[in-house]
Amino acid sequence: MVSHYKEVYEDWKANPEEFWETAAGAIDWLEPWSKVFDGSRGAYGRWFVGAHTNTCYNCLDRHVERGRPGQPALIYDSPVTGTKKTYTYSELLDQVSAMAALMERHGVAKGDRVLIYMPMVPEAVMAMLACARIGAIHSVVFGGFAAQELATRIEDAKPKLVVAASCGLEPGRVVEYKPLLDEAIALCDFQPDACFILQRKQCIASMVPGRDYDLGDMMTEALREGLTTPCVPVAATDPLYILYTSGTTGQPKGVVRDNGGHMVALKWSMGHLYGVEPGEVFWAASDVGWVVGHSYIVYAPLLHGATTLLYEGKPVGTPDAGAFWRVISEHSVSCLFTAPTAFRAIKKEDPEAKFLSKYSLSSLRSLFLAGERADPDTLEWAEEILGVPVIDHWWQTETGWCIAGNPLGLGKLPVKVGSSTVPMPGYDVQVLDDAGHPVAANTLGNIVVKLPLPPGCLPTLWNAEERFKEAYLNEFPGYYKTSDAGTIDEDGYLFIMARTDDIINVAGHRLSTGAMEEVLASHQDVAECAVIGITDKLKGQLPCGMVVLKSGVEREPEVVEKELITLVRQQIGPVAAFKLAVVVERLPKTRSGKILRGTMRSIADGVTYKMPATIDDPVILQEIEEKLAGKGLTKAL
Ligand code: COA
Ligand code: AMP
Repeated sequence: MVSHYKEVYEDWKANPEEFWETAAGAIDWLEPWSKVFDGSRGAYGRWFVGAHTNTCYNCLDRHVERGRPGQPALIYDSPVTGTKKTYTYSELLDQVSAMAALMERHGVAKGDRVLIYMPMVPEAVMAMLACARIGAIHSVVFGGFAAQELATRIEDAKPKLVVAASCGLEPGRVVEYKPLLDEAIALCDFQPDACFILQRKQCIASMVPGRDYDLGDMMTEALREGLTTPCVPVAATDPLYILYTSGTTGQPKGVVRDNGGHMVALKWSMGHLYGVEPGEVFWAASDVGWVVGHSYIVYAPLLHGATTLLYEGKPVGTPDAGAFWRVISEHSVSCLFTAPTAFRAIKKEDPEAKFLSKYSLSSLRSLFLAGERADPDTLEWAEEILGVPVIDHWWQTETGWCIAGNPLGLGKLPVKVGSSTVPMPGYDVQVLDDAGHPVAANTLGNIVVKLPLPPGCLPTLWNAEERFKEAYLNEFPGYYKTSDAGTIDEDGYLFIMARTDDIINVAGHRLSTGAMEEVLASHQDVAECAVIGITDKLKGQLPCGMVVLKSGVEREPEVVEKELITLVRQQIGPVAAFKLAVVVERLPKTRSGKILRGTMRSIADGVTYKMPATIDDPVILQEIEEKLAGKGLTKAL
């Protein structure tokens, strides 16, 4: 198929409002908009102003009413528990409606927040959709975060209700969620009214009388009673959810997503970007705690009338490196979406892809990768073994959907390895120098998006409009700052090279080195510290903390290093994958006192670096190099 990308993109550029108005025709609205886009609202404008709708209705009810009641909506495949279960659209609607009614019984109403702290179980998806049904705003917290991180989110979102599970299951380890939840609530001034707890048989949590309710028992009873509740109309501009993501400090940013624009963008993407038809099986192998899980495990496939797959397992070890192939063949997956790190993990265990011979992958038409740059080796390996197009596409929690990709639904564009291809309609992507001037083709600079952002992107940060402007809009007036650096070539292809802030990407998970530094600095023996992301073959990057101890500390450096590793795990969580702490004598700095993080990263990665002209004392770099070499951490030595 010849690509129609150029016509479609030009179409959008010529008349953006008409473009999105046409796309909005694929969504059911209770009341139409008075303005497709109103530039006078919010920091940069709002989409579908005046319209009313309901996201849950669009995900479930309309498919039940119009021809898909018996079609699978959600397939749950959990190798860690040995469970497989399919919910049709009709069954999922019953579950969601019952859970929404239970939430209402506990006083949750439109605009209230509900925090969801759950592993990859169907009840997590149901809880999200139940919130959408009654106009409550969900905030899902990834299970790999520790109590302190959970507490920060509870304090900021002020949820009336928490929906949690007793535990999550990591290979070989039961992660008890309930004690973490109890600890988080104890750390907060704000107290939720109630907690719905899903008791999983792998670990039965103790309950706080008067606050905790057994979700399983309540659901059994509610379904027996036939308890339901109708969809509550919400404004297109009302928040659907808040998703916290790493910022440059320990205080995460609460990315807000609206109802209307979000649905329009996601629905458009399913057909035009991913090339998936209603009725097909779409599998995003991510976690509901991340944006990919929100958009492409829950909302987009259901808005599209496709079948979504919820996989509670890993690419390797549950039980082997053939797990992804089993799932694809068993459930006839058409399109798989995951992070490159998952494929690196499979390649490491099974470089010749021997497990593939056990399965038929005839249903698979494409693999989409995101979350971090798809390194050419991994991309080419995946393409070779799968024999389908492998598409790198670039996006952020903030945007909620793809900024640049190769829209297969419009006909595949030629792939340039290392590039996430071209901007999607809605995004006018440009590269600016630090002074805000456009740079020439192939010149590295700050990647920005000309305002307004398209439907689906964040309109603000939760209760932090000024921080929103400061973080994204002020530096380059008229543009959204992505905090990614890269280039655009003469064909308009985008190459994303690095973050311009202190965010690192560990196994496709976005983490703030600033937040880790705050934790290290809180240790009584630490005078100063710097956390850098060093290159890792499997996870892309790994955090490494360099710490200087206070003078007079006589404890063994190794003991302090171990304590620091434990502290980050306790304060941020296992997801930080913080396993490298190195006590050093001094940190390299510029004469003005700025820590030379980039230079230390180059040393650790074994790449050549230029001695910074402004360095205070060059000898310190030699000391750092020796320390890292002592830990086996420089590839150069
Ligand atoms: N609850 C509790 N702990 C969790 C968790 C969860 N939901 N998810 C991860 N963790 C823990 C892990 O068990 C691990 O703990 P450990 O230090 O005791 O081993 C730690 O957090 C780090 O997790 P992770 O970085 O995911 O490493 P891993 O070794 O468990 O798995 C991969 C590595 C590559 C297999 C895995 O990250 C993966 O499948 N990634 C690709 C898909 C993806 O998640 N993408 C995200 C956005 S698209
Ligand atoms: P998150 O908000 O967790 O989705 O992380 C967003 C960040 O991950 C981006 O700002 C990029 O730095 C990085 N990222 C995501 N997808 C890609 C990609 N395809 N190529 C390069 N970097 C990516």
